[in-house]
Amino acid sequence: MPLTRRKTLALIGGGVVLAAAAAGGAFVSTRNPVRALAPWQMAGHYDDVRLRALSWALLAPNPHNRQPWLAELRGDDTVLIHRDKARNLPATDPFDRQLTIGMGCFLELMVMAAAEEGLAVALTLFPEGEDGPVAHARFAPGATADPLFVHALQRRSCKEPYEDRPVPDAAAAALAAHARILRDAEMVARLRDLTWAALDVEFHTPATIQESVDLMRFGRAEIETNPDGIDLGGPVLETLMLAGVINRAAQADPSSAGFQAGVDIYNKMLAATPAYAVIATAGNAREDQIEAGRQWLRLNLAATQLGLAVQPVSQALQEFPEMAEHYATAHALLARDGETVQMLGRLGYGPATGPSPRWPLETRLIDA
Ligand SMILES: Cc1cc2nc3c(=O)[nH]c(=O)nc-3n(C[C@H](O)[C@H](O)[C@H](O)COP(=O)(O)O)c2cc1C
Repeated sequence: MPLTRRKTLALIGGGVVLAAAAAGGAFVSTRNPVRALAPWQMAGHYDDVRLRALSWALLAPNPHNRQPWLAELRGDDTVLIHRDKARNLPATDPFDRQLTIGMGCFLELMVMAAAEEGLAVALTLFPEGEDGPVAHARFAPGATADPLFVHALQRRSCKEPYEDRPVPDAAAAALAAHARILRDAEMVARLRDLTWAALDVEFHTPATIQESVDLMRFGRAEIETNPDGIDLGGPVLETLMLAGVINRAAQADPSSAGFQAGVDIYNKMLAATPAYAVIATAGNAREDQIEAGRQWLRLNLAATQLGLAVQPVSQALQEFPEMAEHYATAHALLARDGETVQMLGRLGYGPATGPSPRWPLETRLIDA
């Protein structure tokens, strides 16, 4: 992934610091992970159509890049999709709501990839109840391709400051098919404040910051070994790691320089937001959460098509006790008639960013 010369210190999820100022050239490219990004090249390159669809699906956005999906092939036209509960996020996602939304993103991308080959996927959600598989998926002829699918390889969660430029009316109208688009200056200002205040709580609550720190991958070697979680790579970061400014202990210590640097950068990033996208559901059943994920994936692709960037900013929607006040504010601002706000995202014009790591499909397949 080519890195720009620009300093791109950014924060991921509730954690700190992805980054790099690049001198360009050899050093940069040798520090980029290779294996961890290979799944972006492998998408679609499998013999079985179900594997092809799954190899696309695993590029879906998902909380903390946990990639909790597991797939079990059945017969010659069916897949059972499971959620790997060993990858839960108990501190920031105590009811697995966000992880379920991520499974919805995965299913939508799988369905779109199959449609690209003319196959419709009959999905039965939670066929054995919510503790069993997430979906039973049967592939059969009879679908037409979806024009959004061509943007799957370019889709990102763009964790950068966005330009000081409004989202145009036509773009907002197009995206309104997938989410509520909020551009009103007063609302945008309130949401900037809320997302910042909520992030501050996540950063200063020991259990939630520790959950993020535990998922940080420091430098290329760790990213290649565990291509998930919060990847901290690139030459500048790795230099800071060598200098001892950034390490696991510092990132969990609010008084450390590494932690503070991350906080400042995250503050600037959240402030540089001209618009928001919101997905809310009338109910909050598992099926509603899956549907919200399917919508988010479509929103993310539609934004990509329009040259716009999105990034979920989920902290105020998290259900751990210390967040209760901001959760209530988010719902007072954004929910209508008892709705649950499932996704809140920044929206605007952002810089091009590289893909995030993924586990290869082969590691996500299980036997019956
Ligand atoms: C339900 C959900 C919640 C997320 N919350 C956040 C968040 O609060 N902050 C953030 O930076 N990214 C968030 N993300 C984005 C993930 O971090 C991102 O999808 C993952 O790291 C993979 O990167 P990619 O989307 O660029 O492929 C969220 C994604 C999902 C599906």
